[in-house]
Amino acid sequence: MTSSFDDLVLVVGATGGVGQLVVGKLIENDFRVRVLTRNAAKATKMFDNKVEVAVGDIRDPNTLPTAMPNVTQIICCTGTTAFPSSKWEFESEPNLIEWVQLFFDPKYSISKAKNSPLNVDAQGVSNLVAAAPENLRRFVFVSSCGILRQNEFPWKLLNAYGVLDAKQKGEVAIINSGLPYTIIRPGRLIDGPYTSYDLNTLLKANTGGKLGVVLGQGDTLQGDASRIDVAAACVESILHPSTERQVFEIVNQGARPAVVDWDYLFSQLTSV
Ligand SMILES: NC(=O)c1ccc[n+]([C@@H]2O[C@H](COP(=O)([O-])OP(=O)(O)OC[C@H]3O[C@@H](n4cnc5c(N)ncnc54)[C@H](OP(=O)(O)O)[C@@H]3O)[C@@H](O)[C@H]2O)c1
Repeated sequence: MTSSFDDLVLVVGATGGVGQLVVGKLIENDFRVRVLTRNAAKATKMFDNKVEVAVGDIRDPNTLPTAMPNVTQIICCTGTTAFPSSKWEFESEPNLIEWVQLFFDPKYSISKAKNSPLNVDAQGVSNLVAAAPENLRRFVFVSSCGILRQNEFPWKLLNAYGVLDAKQKGEVAIINSGLPYTIIRPGRLIDGPYTSYDLNTLLKANTGGKLGVVLGQGDTLQGDASRIDVAAACVESILHPSTERQVFEIVNQGARPAVVDWDYLFSQLTSV
């Protein structure tokens, strides 16, 4: 399966770990790519003028329409951290005492953050859905494992500041929009580019390219997921019509075959 001549994929969150790999994979598959970014200079340098650049912030609906003309698919891999960090963009840089308060008082930290999970993963994704072209061929969303297990360990801990609630709201906005969608729920992300601030990033965890790809449904899988394979799943989803209206989890487990067989992996999915 290949791209068609009129495909123009909008990658949102393109400067992030998964997003950069998605852009690379799209270019490798001859897709035309436009990225939506808050920082045009960063994106232009990062992608070496190989993509169109549109400036926008998913929290601000007014910035989104200019990115949409002729877009045929959207891949959304935006996100912020699950726990308070500078990516939450507080009005002023917190001092040590304020950081302690931010960590121990979720309601306080959420109220002070401009780029919290609620702002990005719930409201931002909902804004993006509302701005998407009516004739969009696919909206691919990078969500998270644990959406349906918010009361179980370790998801309860991960959701202490509402990241899973926010991702779920994003998923619901997409499903209710009537747009053709694919929702991908990765396990804990490993492999570079190391752009987020979680434990695996600090440890620079990687699969060594040795683990297979496992897909699941119903939110029962647990484990690490390579950003490389998550990005591949995003791009393969728009190449495979069978992934339309599918929600699936992805983790890395078991031995890796010489070539990951996406046709076979996707054939195991059932519509929800
Ligand atoms: N870390 C994990 O273990 C884990 C597990 C499951 C799922 N996920 C999800 O996987 C996805 C990709 O993760 P990642 O590590 O690749 O993320 P990342 O490196 O932190 O990238 C996040 C991207 O979102 C963009 N972004 C943030 N706020 C934005 C806003 N208001 N408007 C527009 N763009 C915005 C960032 O742009 P800037 O460059 O402008 O900041 C960046 O390009 C995220 O949705 C994350 O929630 C993560």
